[in-house]
Amino acid sequence: RPRAELGEDNAGSIGGLREAAESCRRCPLWRDATQTVFGEGPQSAEVIFVGEQPGDQEDLAGKPFVGPAGKIFDVILNDAGVDRQKTYVTNAVKHFKFEPRGKRRIHSKPNAGEVQACRWWLDREIGLIKPDVVVALGATAAQSLLGKAVPVTKMRGQVIERDDGLRVFITIHPSFILRIREAADKDAERGRFLQDMKAVKSLM
Ligand code: URA
Repeated sequence: RPRAELGEDNAGSIGGLREAAESCRRCPLWRDATQTVFGEGPQSAEVIFVGEQPGDQEDLAGKPFVGPAGKIFDVILNDAGVDRQKTYVTNAVKHFKFEPRGKRRIHSKPNAGEVQACRWWLDREIGLIKPDVVVALGATAAQSLLGKAVPVTKMRGQVIERDDGLRVFITIHPSFILRIREAADKDAERGRFLQDMKAVKSLM
């Protein structure tokens, strides 16, 4: 179908929503990004994982969590006995925000306005999928889902029920594990994230 027919009203399915999001202009991040990286997974998913925003590799691939953070996420999800293919994986912000540094593009954190603008899409993804639980991977996702700042390292492993009844499970962002240098600390954090993913499985 021609792009012009696909307004944001065409939001009755995840596929329609994804097509509409391709031409999103709700915030300026579309200008420098390669493409919109929409959520991925079946509309029948029982759980939605929400990250922060696509990274360099996600921006190029057009798919969420396919870079380094996605790799560790995949492995630990699998260890927890969760089949990623049956889950829906998305981000609070759907365009890559970066600072050019030489040939590299360095991730830069989306601001409150960008998160707020992109909530329009996240709300609709949740509304269509109606999951048992939504997992906030890190502070940006928690902020978007709960509308307030959440201390994720303190609150991790907990479920917060929203006024609309949606259960939001709080945990860290998988890239937090990647940033830990000391091997023993990294292993410990990996273990905590695995426990969190097992807890998520029990909520599905
Ligand atoms: N980090 C995120 O928050 N989301 C992605 O899709 C990839 C990395």
